[in-house]
Amino acid sequence: MTKAETIESLGRIRPELLSLAEGKLPRHVAMIMDGNGRWAKLRGLPRSAGHYEGVKSVRRMTELSSDLGIEYLTLYAFSTENWHRPVEEVEILMHLIGLAIEQELPDLIRNNVKIRLAGDLDRVPEEALSRLRKAEHETDVCTGLTLIICISYSSRWEIAEAARRLAGEVAKGSLRPEDISEESFAAHLSTAGIPDPDLLIRTGGDYRISNFLLWQIAYAELKFTDTLWPDFDKEEYAGILLEYTRRERRFGKTSEQLSPSPEI
Ligand code: IPE
Ligand code: IPE
Ligand code: MG
Repeated sequence: MTKAETIESLGRIRPELLSLAEGKLPRHVAMIMDGNGRWAKLRGLPRSAGHYEGVKSVRRMTELSSDLGIEYLTLYAFSTENWHRPVEEVEILMHLIGLAIEQELPDLIRNNVKIRLAGDLDRVPEEALSRLRKAEHETDVCTGLTLIICISYSSRWEIAEAARRLAGEVAKGSLRPEDISEESFAAHLSTAGIPDPDLLIRTGGDYRISNFLLWQIAYAELKFTDTLWPDFDKEEYAGILLEYTRRERRFGKTSEQLSPSPEI
């Protein structure tokens, strides 16, 4: 669907969403997909049922981001800390991540979505990793939405990793300490080459960042919703995008500097 058609169809359900056509949408949205376990528990189901249902939300968010012409969507699928969950849940999550990406691959390619992976992938079991790598490889030529999947990811791990690599270059003599800058540091993160997120959304009702993109969200707009991830739908996402378009991003400046009133 084109952007205009997408906004028109959202507007049929919630008329105020038609205003999305006037606002400046984010280039990059990041999401902390939380609340699968509680969604399942509320229904008397095993936690895994929530993770399975959560895959449908991933599909909806990818589709809407792509249809609205958003350039980057970064999803927190599994944190470094999540390795401490019960073994059976970790196994199910890893299996599901691999399975979902394999099943979605034809549609992702059809929709021109490029997959990129971020995280300590050495820890990911071979079955899931080979499916993820295949998706990354086969979508390499895609030029639409870039979908960044963070698996076995933690921001402190990523920052320490970047520091280690920079130190290695200094030790080798290919980099001088005085040449380390914010830009060269960012170029050593797993999001190298990707603009910082403009908007970070966390579902599930908790108000924390949980070790996600600490460097990259320095100036992101934050939105926390109580909706559990499997219940997160396109209309709510579009509503958050609309709210984003109405926020004033000042980046340290004053309001007047951003839109000076005409001289009288
Ligand atoms: C998010 O849902 C999925 C992952 C962290 C992998 P949770 O599994 O954390 O669900 P809650 O927070 O227990 O409801
Ligand atoms: C954050 O969710 C990680 C992911 C969404 C993958 P958690 O449910 O693991 O977060 P905490 O531990 O409750 O902060
Ligand atoms: Mg959680």
